[in-house]
Amino acid sequence: MADLEGTKENADKDYGIGIPVETKLFFLKGLNNCDWGIKNRMSRIYNPNTGRTVMLAFDHGYIMGPTSGLERLDLAINPLIEYADSLMCTRGALRSIVPPTANKPICLRYSAGSSVLTYLNNECTIDIEDAIRINASAMAVMVAIGDSLYEAKTIENLVRTADYGYKYGIPTLGVTAVGKDMVRDARYIGTATRICAENGATFVKTYYCENFERVVNGCPVPIVIAGGKKLPEIEALELCYNAINDGATGVDMGRNVFQAEHPVAMIQAVRGVVHDNLTPKQALELYVDLKS
Ligand code: 5RP
Repeated sequence: MADLEGTKENADKDYGIGIPVETKLFFLKGLNNCDWGIKNRMSRIYNPNTGRTVMLAFDHGYIMGPTSGLERLDLAINPLIEYADSLMCTRGALRSIVPPTANKPICLRYSAGSSVLTYLNNECTIDIEDAIRINASAMAVMVAIGDSLYEAKTIENLVRTADYGYKYGIPTLGVTAVGKDMVRDARYIGTATRICAENGATFVKTYYCENFERVVNGCPVPIVIAGGKKLPEIEALELCYNAINDGATGVDMGRNVFQAEHPVAMIQAVRGVVHDNLTPKQALELYVDLKS
């Protein structure tokens, strides 16, 4: 029952006079002026204590079909879910194999439209209502900088997604696609990531390259790296280590985890590098320990 006692002015009330309201800067660079919903979702994808994230990418099927290691999505992915900070996947994979009770923030593959059998990058975006329906914590859009046919279309996809993202408080992940003819150097990657950020990406996924600190410093929002093709475990861990050292805020890794000899051990070794500052050698020892 409503109680008028609590509204009376009296000497017992404590307004904290003299104690300034704490105004903290948001822990991820470039996002301080974003809306509460975007910051809240980014704080689910990222660990606010380390400022980093281990995202598990298994969206490969959207262009490649049954990718090696992902033939049986459920068997490959479900044992890894508990070790990931966030899951990056298509809505098809999400609805068919990810248990809603896993309670992991979802980075939804939001652009699609072509396959490796023809010409990549001619993509459209899915419906914002579906991203909201599945409670997406971010929407990932591929951006093909330097593609003479589809650059404009993919940037438009990013721009429209960011419009919806700002409207509904959902972060946009710009994913830089590097075509076969592109050189993966700091100049190209730096251009592609900067274009993503300036066109509204909340954070950007790209490939590691030499002089990566220039890429990071030239991009006003956080960057996570993709793993790329499967490497020997020690090299994949070195890749994570170097990227983090050069300023990446985490990884969004697929093949180097689910194609590893022991994926559950590998994702924990990657976590060791990203969140616990393990060296590649220490992380490999952890991997060897865990797999045995
Ligand atoms: C392509 C993608 C990939 O599908 C995937 O997420 C990349 O992960 P990895 O390179 O670590 O296998 O984003 O644009």
